[in-house]
Amino acid sequence: MNAIITDSLTKTFVSKIGPIEAVKDLSLMIKANSIYGLIGHNGAGKTTAFMLLNTLLEPTRGSGWILGLDLLKDQKRIRQLTGLLTENLRLYDELTVEETLLFFANLYGASPNIPDLLERFELTEWRKQQVDRLSTGMRKKVAILSACIHRPRLLFLDEPFSGLDPLAMHGLRDFINYLLEYTEMTVIIASHNLKELAGLCDEVGIMKEGQMVISGTLTKIKQEYGFHDYLQLQVDRVPTGLERLITNLAPGIISVANTPENLDVVLRTLREQNINVIDIEKQTAALEDIYQRVYQEVAQ
Ligand SMILES: Nc1ncnc2c1ncn2[C@@H]1O[C@H](COP(=O)(O)OP(=O)(O)OP(=O)(O)O)[C@@H](O)[C@H]1O
Ligand SMILES: [Mg+2]
Repeated sequence: MNAIITDSLTKTFVSKIGPIEAVKDLSLMIKANSIYGLIGHNGAGKTTAFMLLNTLLEPTRGSGWILGLDLLKDQKRIRQLTGLLTENLRLYDELTVEETLLFFANLYGASPNIPDLLERFELTEWRKQQVDRLSTGMRKKVAILSACIHRPRLLFLDEPFSGLDPLAMHGLRDFINYLLEYTEMTVIIASHNLKELAGLCDEVGIMKEGQMVISGTLTKIKQEYGFHDYLQLQVDRVPTGLERLITNLAPGIISVANTPENLDVVLRTLREQNINVIDIEKQTAALEDIYQRVYQEVAQ
């Protein structure tokens, strides 16, 4: 089942500097109970897409189905089933951490296990503190918990990693995986932290100037852009006759694109030439490399 299906969803803002097509013809499919990462330069349209998919903005044209509900007709029901962490955290400064969570729980008629949630984000000792007295990262953690306090079936996190220290980042990763495993949530994350997204997401989408340039699993995107993972081999002698397939990185270190055909030829040649492999290291193409390539290609 798909949590999100959209067809040519478009949002044009009327502004003083003229019309801005913030999201153009977004046709997207996101599987239920998966983690989807949305990336793109500043102004690419990520936040606008989130607002459209949450029914907080009305599309200029196009259609969509969120958890099987019509984006244009079932707005109220969709809002009950979704949660959104916005970029600009909106919390009530005078409430304590615990009161904030209770407030949002009451708003949705939910009865979450608040001590358990506080513990997951190491907020227990801060539960009686007013939220305006918290550090940026702690406020972020409270906002993330508030966004999913009613156990939405679809959770949108806009820039959840910014401001979090490495331990909190780890906590958030664990928390998202817990949400997927035990509550069968679907989580969509917009972020500039490509490393985190690559490790966490089942699929990613790259947006540029309002358009989705490519969307899918990292493996699919790598294939489409001709990226390979590489194997770096440390050998006791450099083989001859493989110049077409290998690159000499340093004395005794060769690199080969990790495809079954390449490996077959290289390993056979090493054996034939009595060359020993001392060490093997896998070099994976990073999401950063793909992101840069996508932006370069589209700019041409
Ligand atoms: N309310 C608005 N009125 C006019 N233009 C807007 C409005 N909101 C967003 N835009 C424009 O729409 C485009 C997309 O903005 P959006 O906030 O969706 O980008 P983003 O990908 O979230 O960027 P960032 O990485 O900086 O958060 C930008 O050109 C922005 O100026
Ligand atoms: Mg944004």
